[in-house]
Amino acid sequence: HKQVAILISGGGSNMMTLVDSMTGDHPARPCLVLSNNADAGGLKKAAAAGVATAVVDHRPFKGDRQAFEAELVKPILDAGADIVCLAGFMRVLTVDFVTQFQGRMLNIHPSLLPKYTGLHTHARALAAGDSTHGCSVHEVTAVLDDGPLLGQARVPVLPDDTPETLAERVLTQEHILYPDVLRRYAAGDRTPVLLG
Ligand code: GAR
Repeated sequence: HKQVAILISGGGSNMMTLVDSMTGDHPARPCLVLSNNADAGGLKKAAAAGVATAVVDHRPFKGDRQAFEAELVKPILDAGADIVCLAGFMRVLTVDFVTQFQGRMLNIHPSLLPKYTGLHTHARALAAGDSTHGCSVHEVTAVLDDGPLLGQARVPVLPDDTPETLAERVLTQEHILYPDVLRRYAAGDRTPVLLG
């Protein structure tokens, strides 16, 4: 099996759908859930599912990204990860870190990239009057929320949507898209998929 490390910062709902998907004839298994935030709700869920967890708090490094990443990389290497999945990991990574995992690191982003890189994607889609919104899984490169697309899922924007209702609709699709992409990626298939 390919070994998968999943990096989170928060609730970890995407992480759990990835963990739950990696059973049976799936070509990968979870080897580590790693967070920059000791309070991330996903850590307990991962541990309860029997997955090894680790925390590397970014705050003591006071903005020194390279020093933070020098620690962050250790549990990933120790776990023998073949693939790294960012799943709601809210720290920007340096070129050096990304290069180390180039071609084997994925990210999920809550917009139809190349639209709305960065934060507040749902509010921005609403403000723009978009009728369609969604989420993307892509290979991570040195440019934030850039890199080859592996899959996208679309949702309609409804007249009464708030950023919260739209986020919820998108998140439901994230939970379908990310496991779908990871399964194919772990099997060596990088053909982009479009759902919805
Ligand atoms: C997800 O919507 C994910 O796409 C987004 O954070 C949420 C994490 O939820 N990621 C980003 O915004 C990355 N910049 P989760 O912890 O429940 O998976």
